[in-house]
Amino acid sequence: MKILLLGANGQIGFELMRAMSVLGEVVPVTRDGFLQGGASCREVDLASDTALGMLLDSTQPSLIVNAAAYTAVDRAEDEPELARRVNGDAVGALGAWAATHGVPVVHFSTDYVFDGNHGRPWREDDATAPLGAYGSSKWLGEQALLQSGAQHLILRTAWIYAARGRNFLLSILRAAHGEGSIRVVDDQYGSPTPARVVADATTAIVARIASRGHFREDVPWGTYHLTTAGQTTWHGFASALLREALRARLIARMPDIQAISSSAWQARARRPGYSVLDCSRIQDAFALRLPSWQDGLASVISEIVSCRAHA
Ligand SMILES: NC(=O)c1ccc[n+]([C@@H]2O[C@H](COP(=O)([O-])OP(=O)(O)OC[C@H]3O[C@@H](n4cnc5c(N)ncnc54)[C@H](OP(=O)(O)O)[C@@H]3O)[C@@H](O)[C@H]2O)c1
Repeated sequence: MKILLLGANGQIGFELMRAMSVLGEVVPVTRDGFLQGGASCREVDLASDTALGMLLDSTQPSLIVNAAAYTAVDRAEDEPELARRVNGDAVGALGAWAATHGVPVVHFSTDYVFDGNHGRPWREDDATAPLGAYGSSKWLGEQALLQSGAQHLILRTAWIYAARGRNFLLSILRAAHGEGSIRVVDDQYGSPTPARVVADATTAIVARIASRGHFREDVPWGTYHLTTAGQTTWHGFASALLREALRARLIARMPDIQAISSSAWQARARRPGYSVLDCSRIQDAFALRLPSWQDGLASVISEIVSCRAHA
């Protein structure tokens, strides 16, 4: 199977490149034509009208995995057009090519398609109502892929972090080395999810639905939620990750962590208050078992420890 992987330098893309190599040939694609280690690869700027079509024509993949996205949630409020081009229009173009060529698409989306006003975990068919430009652009991408007629899996995930990249866990670890207390929001709920959990689950799904580049007739294509199990707040997550980091000697002392409200944080974009996604559908459809967010955290802390030991 030839898998075209867009966004290979992103948090999820990086993990997919590693995980999906067991499935066949992975063709990584980045915005600038270079992988994190410096090796060259195929390139595409999803904001360009023509580059994607040329890339697809010249690659002729048997599966397209789109882990690329405009993910700067606050900046999107000032660049809604660019966010819409990358997260919406480009996904539509991808879908159109895929439908014409009979190639399935795995695409990632977000909890930010919901407004966060809920008393139970969000299900796939709950009403969407994005609060900001990023969520709206991702919702447009979902719709565009749906309407393209391409066979697709839209995997909505949330609160992604990893041992590398730009993410909440690494920001908190950096802050813990400074003086002063760390202020963290305690009125947003979600399921912190390692990029590796998403990549491993995605790989297991593709392994289940395809064999030697051919997809089964009865694949339950559609939209699914994919996060770890359980829930916490950003403050709860920060406290847990710092406790783990202290135990693993990544930090020397437990810093003071101050709980604040979202309104006190004053981010440019509004975030959903309740982001927990109900993942029972994906687990039932593909016989998956997703780890708890605490187990996910322990594995990422171990990975950071082992990276530092080998650095
Ligand atoms: N991070 C989260 O908490 C979260 C939560 C829910 C859903 N998701 C979804 O999960 C997917 C992957 O997220 P992630 O956290 O792995 O994101 P990420 O680390 O920000 O990676 C996104 C990748 O997309 C690339 N990209 C951005 N604009 C591009 C463009 N115009 N052309 C080509 N490539 C472009 C970036 O390239 P550069 O390296 O050149 O910038 C980056 O490597 C996205 O669909 C995102 O919406 C993420």
